[in-house]
Amino acid sequence: MSADVAIAAENVSHHFGSPPLRKQVLFDVSVSIGRGEIVIVTGPSGSGKTTFLTLVGALRSTQDGSLRVLGEELRGASEATLVRVRRRIGYIFQAHNLLDALTASQNVQMALQTAGAPARARPSARSGRSRPSGSRRGRGTTRTRCRADRSSASPSRARS
Ligand SMILES: Nc1ncnc2c1ncn2[C@@H]1O[C@H](COP(=O)(O)OP(=O)(O)OP(=O)(O)O)[C@@H](O)[C@H]1O
Ligand SMILES: [Mg+2]
Repeated sequence: MSADVAIAAENVSHHFGSPPLRKQVLFDVSVSIGRGEIVIVTGPSGSGKTTFLTLVGALRSTQDGSLRVLGEELRGASEATLVRVRRRIGYIFQAHNLLDALTASQNVQMALQTAGAPARARPSARSGRSRPSGSRRGRGTTRTRCRADRSSASPSRARS
C-alpha cells in the first residue's frame, strides 16, 4: 500500500447475525482512498454505509477481505491494533451520543481529557473556546471542530 493511500479495501464483505438469521450487508467492497481525499458515500438507507464506516473506523472487526487503514491491516487485527488505529481517526457518529447536559466544547474536552491530551490542546473550560497550540494539525495539536460562537451551547442547540 502506497503511503499516499489512507484506506484500501479489497473484497470486504460483512454480515450480521448467524444462520438462519444471518444477513449479509457488504458484498466484496473494493475502494482505495488517498490521503486528503474527500469522499462522499451515498446509497439507500440500509445499504451498509455506516457498517462500512465502522469497519474503516476500526469500531468493528473486519470479517472478510482486506482492509488497510493508515497502514494497518484491520482484518484479523488484535484489539490493541484496533484501538491504536481508532485513536488516529476523527469519527462523528450518526447518532452522536453527545451529552446534552454539557456544552459542545465540554463534550470535546471530555474526550480529549480521556485521551490524555495536553491541557494546551484542550478548549478553555472558562470560555469554552478552542485554544489550539498552533496552526499545525496532527500529533500534539488538536482543534475543536465546532463553531466558536456555538461551542458553549448544548449539542442540540449547537446544531441549529
Ligand atoms: N448491529 C447490527 N445488527 C444487525 N443488523 C444490523 C446491525 N447494524 C446494521 N444492521 C443492518 O445492516 C444493514 C445496513 O445498515 P447500515 O446502518 O450500515 O445502513 P446505512 O446505509 O448506514 O443506512 P442509513 O442511510 O439509514 O444510515 C441494515 O439492514 C441494518 O438493519
Ligand atoms: Mg447510516
